[in-house]
Amino acid sequence: MRGVSETEMIDAPLEEESPAIARAVETLRAGEVVALPTETVYGLAADAFNADALAKVFAVKERPHFDPLIVHIGKKGDLKRVANVPDDIADVVAALTEEFWPGPLTLVLPKQPEVPDLVTSGLDTVAVRMPDHAVMKGVASLLGPIAAPSANRFGRISPTSAAAVEEELGGRVPLIVNGGACRDGLESTIIAVEAGEKRPQFRLLRAGPVVKEALQKFGKVIRAKRVTDDKIVAPGQLPSHYAPSCRVEVVDDIASYTFDPAKKYGLLAYKGLPKDGYVEAHDWHAQEVLSPGNGKLAEAAVRFFYCLRSLDAAEVDVIVAQPVSEVGLGVAIMDRLRRAAAERG
Ligand code: TXA
Ligand code: MG
Repeated sequence: MRGVSETEMIDAPLEEESPAIARAVETLRAGEVVALPTETVYGLAADAFNADALAKVFAVKERPHFDPLIVHIGKKGDLKRVANVPDDIADVVAALTEEFWPGPLTLVLPKQPEVPDLVTSGLDTVAVRMPDHAVMKGVASLLGPIAAPSANRFGRISPTSAAAVEEELGGRVPLIVNGGACRDGLESTIIAVEAGEKRPQFRLLRAGPVVKEALQKFGKVIRAKRVTDDKIVAPGQLPSHYAPSCRVEVVDDIASYTFDPAKKYGLLAYKGLPKDGYVEAHDWHAQEVLSPGNGKLAEAAVRFFYCLRSLDAAEVDVIVAQPVSEVGLGVAIMDRLRRAAAERG
């Protein structure tokens, strides 16, 4: 663990130039880490080419070194500074970045030798995206490539607000830039881009806001195995992740669920309509609704980590979660929910 004497929080307007951005750049240039907003979740940023700063990221998060970081660029021209895109995928990479950048799509590509091993955990690939948030984009276009994992302690709930970052990392980082609530609320989609036999092929390493259906126009989407030859392909794919301190259970049929009278239960409902039978099924100690009223997956995604964090703070023993339909964005939501519910290692 790493401590600092004080964590300062400053507000940033949603503009690509502001005093807050200048402060963040200056702090990063001095080799420090800074928590910055992106459109997905808040990130814990460090200069991607400064090994000492990168080491602080791992210390602050208590993150194991086998888990590589995502590099964020502020302008498309910076892609070549971190990735060495082979000719056989150059066209599809250009098409993907044209369509989805800036935005929540991370590409895993062969790396440039200059990218430190700490960023890639010694892999020969690098994960890179151009974020669509004025603050992270503004800082990265002034500083250059920024390595940033989500700004939570390892294995815990990702932060979608500056207040959540403070809960996670207060006293561990010198600066948090408050850029408001995150627009998407779930971490970026991660794909490894390969040439494939007939069409380009994308190995889906993590489901996210850019859904499979949107990617299929550009190539074939295949599911990545969690682990190959005992090597983790995407540690974000670890079975247990995004975990609150209490137990999480995904329950399809609440009517036949057996409540333990000695325990406090929290409800994580999708729509919260009485006809779902969830709300009145039990005298809940706390409850949160992902998409109040009409069940919109985009709203559920934005509120997902916030609701999980709020139920965790209510100190319930068990969170009972209603599954969402596994289509479109629902795939990414259910991925996070299952891992929040997975047995802890
Ligand atoms: O939306 C996001 O992606 C957020 C914001 C801050 O940009 N970042 C984020 O970072 O979710 P993190 O560290 O929580 O997750 C990064 C994931 C990890 O699961 C890691 O294993 C995977 O990216 N990753 C990074 N480099 C990789 C590589 N070379 N090959 C495969 N997976 C990689
Ligand atoms: Mg994370």
